[in-house]
Amino acid sequence: MKVSKLERYQQINEFPNLVQPDAGALRKAPAELCGKWNSSFFRRTAELVLEIGCGWGDFSIALARHFPERNFLGLDVKGARIWRGAKTAVDEGIKNIGFLRIEGEFIEQLFVPGELNEIWITFPTPYLRKPEKMLISQTFLARYHRILSVNGILHLKTDVQLLADYAFNIWPHCGFKLLDKETLLPEIHTNFEARAIKSNRCTWHIQAIPLSENFSPIPDEIRRNPWN
Ligand SMILES: C[S@@+](CC[C@H](N)C(=O)[O-])C[C@H]1O[C@@H](n2cnc3c(N)ncnc32)[C@H](O)[C@@H]1O
Repeated sequence: MKVSKLERYQQINEFPNLVQPDAGALRKAPAELCGKWNSSFFRRTAELVLEIGCGWGDFSIALARHFPERNFLGLDVKGARIWRGAKTAVDEGIKNIGFLRIEGEFIEQLFVPGELNEIWITFPTPYLRKPEKMLISQTFLARYHRILSVNGILHLKTDVQLLADYAFNIWPHCGFKLLDKETLLPEIHTNFEARAIKSNRCTWHIQAIPLSENFSPIPDEIRRNPWN
C-alpha cells in the first residue's frame, strides 16, 4: 500500500527507533544521546557504525541483518526517505539499528570523540554548487577524524569519478590513510548503487583509517577541486 509523504512525516514521529534532534538545540548543546548511543539507545556494548546520508536506509538495514553483533545508525535529513528504513526495522523487529533525522553538519553534537567504529558515506550527492554540504569534503573529514575510534574505518561508496579522485588525492592530506584491502561484504547494494549497476556504471569502495599525525598541506596541483 502506498503511503503518502504527509503520512510518512506523521508516522516518523511515532517510530521508537527514530530520533529527530532539534537543530536549534544542537547549536547550543550536544544531543542528549551524544556519547550514550550504546548505553542508552541500544542498551548494550557493541561496535557502533554510522551511515551518513543513508537515504531509504536499505544498506544499513542489510548490514544490521548481516552483523547482528554490531549496532547501526542511519542518518539522513530527508524524513520521507528515512521512514522506509525505520519502518522496515520496526516491522521486522530488527533491534540493532536506529535512525537519525538531522543534517550531517551536526555530527559532532551527536557523537563524542572516538564513539564510532565505522562511518559509511554511500553515494553522496556531489553538491558542486553547495560545497559546504559535500559529505566527503575536508570539513567533514575533520569531523569524522574526531569522532572515529583509533582503529575506526571510513568507507566511501560512489559511482562519481570526481568523488573517487577527490578521496584518493585529498584524504591522505586530511589525516587519513587509504587502505588497499577489500572488505568482504554480503551482496548488498544501496538504492543508488543498484541504479549505478543497472546502468553499467563503475563504482568505487574506498576505505581509510584515521592517523594520529598532523594533517599535511595539500599540494597546489591537486588543491583545485570544486570543494576547496
Ligand atoms: C544520492 S542520495 C544516496 C542515498 C543512499 N546513500 C543510497 O546510496 O541509496 C544522498 C542522500 O544523502 C542525504 N544527504 C545529503 N547531504 C546530507 C546532509 N548534509 N545531511 C544529511 N543527509 C544528507 C540526502 O538527503 C540523500 O538521501
